[in-house]
Amino acid sequence: MKTARIRQGRHRHCPGCGRIGLAQSLSLITCSRSTDSLLMTIEFPAGFRALVIGAHGAIGAAFVSLLQRDARCGEILAVSRSLDNGFDLEDAASIERLADSLRAQAPFHWVIDATGALTIDGIGPEKSLARLEASALARSFAINTIGPALLLRHVGPMLAGGDAIYAKLSARVGSISDNRKGGWYGYRASKAALNMMLQTAAIELQRRNPNLRVVALQPGTVRSALSAPFQAGVPDLLEPETSAAGMLQAMRSLAPCSGAHFIDYQGRPIPW
Ligand SMILES: NC(=O)c1ccc[n+]([C@@H]2O[C@H](COP(=O)([O-])OP(=O)(O)OC[C@H]3O[C@@H](n4cnc5c(N)ncnc54)[C@H](OP(=O)(O)O)[C@@H]3O)[C@@H](O)[C@H]2O)c1
Repeated sequence: MKTARIRQGRHRHCPGCGRIGLAQSLSLITCSRSTDSLLMTIEFPAGFRALVIGAHGAIGAAFVSLLQRDARCGEILAVSRSLDNGFDLEDAASIERLADSLRAQAPFHWVIDATGALTIDGIGPEKSLARLEASALARSFAINTIGPALLLRHVGPMLAGGDAIYAKLSARVGSISDNRKGGWYGYRASKAALNMMLQTAAIELQRRNPNLRVVALQPGTVRSALSAPFQAGVPDLLEPETSAAGMLQAMRSLAPCSGAHFIDYQGRPIPW
């Protein structure tokens, strides 16, 4: 299984742009460090290891780009379906193979799963009950809930002891108490179910490591392929780097708690 392995500050030059050269497969992509690092509350050890899954998406690529500029980050593993390595959230066996290929690079201090889908095979979010289709609902759950839960199952044991973060891109529409508009059945429900997976897994994993932060993230409305059909009329559309920078800073400021956090890109808590 191929992943892009990005070691900071050595050897060759990194493309260093928003969308990194993931097609370069297992090659070591390296970059020159910038000295600016984000305000830190969580103090990861120098040379800490990060894993970004969904690294070819708009938000995932922004996370990789920003972590490359973090002087304390020693290595970033960037995983994406687009590496043509067979990894697919709808294929449980491919998630196991990915985990097998990652084990030698563990432990990870910071894992960010930035995968997700809203429009699947051209079918967008349902506006009414009459539009519900079993197959579309099942696929939304497969990509947004079940695949990420299996990833957490396999990657959870690879998390570092002490301060560590497991973050998953969720969405505000997954909040049951915040749902005042209705619509978007499958996406909403798959993100709400994802949130429950994160909360439940957090309780279990924190028995071994009380300093593990598990976090469901709302990135804001961000310019990406996923949001493209829905950007019209959004007054505060965010660039991926703006959103990702906010989320990185917010995550570093999270105190250990029992269970998962659900926060937006400015660190504001969202009711479940
Ligand atoms: N953009 C927004 O406004 C917004 C708002 C709220 C929440 N979110 C959430 O933020 C996350 C990232 O979204 P984005 O805006 O960055 O979207 P994006 O650019 O479309 O990225 C989506 C990512 O998910 C991966 N992915 C999709 N289906 C997959 C599958 N079956 N197997 C493996 N990987 C799969 C894609 O992989 P490939 O690139 O390899 O296809 C890509 O890396 C999602 O969870 C989304 O729900 C986004």
